[in-house]
Amino acid sequence: MTALLPEGLDPLALRDACPCDECRHPVSGQRLFETTAIVPEARIAHVTVDTDVVAVDWADGHHSVFRREHAADGRPARTLWDASFAPVQVGYDDAVASPDALRRLLRAVAEYGFAVVTGAPREDGTVARVAELFGHVRETNYGRIFDVRVSVDPANLAFTSLPLSLHTDNPYRDPPPSLQLLHCLESDVDGGDTILADGFRAVSELQACAPEQVALLAGQPIRFAYRDETAELVTEAPVVELDTRGLPRAIRLNNRSKGVPTGSTALVHAWYEAYFAFVAVLEEGEITFRLDPGDVVLFDNLRVLHGRTGFESGGSRRLQGCYADRDALLSTLAVLERA
Ligand code: OGA
Ligand code: ZN
Ligand code: ZN
Repeated sequence: MTALLPEGLDPLALRDACPCDECRHPVSGQRLFETTAIVPEARIAHVTVDTDVVAVDWADGHHSVFRREHAADGRPARTLWDASFAPVQVGYDDAVASPDALRRLLRAVAEYGFAVVTGAPREDGTVARVAELFGHVRETNYGRIFDVRVSVDPANLAFTSLPLSLHTDNPYRDPPPSLQLLHCLESDVDGGDTILADGFRAVSELQACAPEQVALLAGQPIRFAYRDETAELVTEAPVVELDTRGLPRAIRLNNRSKGVPTGSTALVHAWYEAYFAFVAVLEEGEITFRLDPGDVVLFDNLRVLHGRTGFESGGSRRLQGCYADRDALLSTLAVLERA
């Protein structure tokens, strides 16, 4: 069994990472010892460092061999995109029948944050079948599958013919669903086009010209809330969530459900300036395209913002949507890419 060689060759990390059969279960590769019991006492007696192998003799007689592995992890890198980007498309029948076509679809979602499946059956429930190509549907208060159509008594502006500005769905959930799928069943209206924008590109552009504005959006939690007859969902979270390296992890942005920041007048004012700047950068990089009946757009709800243009309420337009989990998609992708 091999293990990633810990950076810096720290003795504690080295002992903790020992890949030998005594330390790791031979089938699952899972650690057999308790880190807190073994690692604090670890003392190196001798180390041999070669190009590909590092061998350690420990003071207590244990012996570890590490093979250097260069790829940090198997996850595809993100490629940021702007208004000139053309969506990756994969045919539904191909994605169902061919592991390589499915791999291309999932890789596009991992890398660009979205992709379009074309030519899916125009049948209720197809959207869940697409999610089940790589994972499970994440059910929410909107149901396992939800219909996006004009309704008489809408609990959500999504169920009107009004335009929807760029947003992420369900920012009032903790955690929000990380993937969203929208399947076009009917689209016999003028308008109702789909708009997408890369939220991570917008963070990176704002970071380059106004890092203090990204810091404000990341540092100030906002209340997001939704209520209807059967749900009352509230969460406090920043518009931009950064990871420990300062890279974007998640965007929560939704004009319909966002509250207002609290704090001193100066802080709140600066937050709004940052918010306006962020939305402007997002909109500069947006793409607009039409979902035809049979198209399914599959996107990372924590990275890619979506919206739609308004439409005449006369014709018929119906989408079905569902949510799923990004980690499941990345896992299926990694398995498909093992070869
Ligand atoms: C939604 C939504 C987009 C559309 O229901 O959350 O964004 O094209 N719909 O109707
Ligand atoms: Zn060991
Ligand atoms: Zn939405």
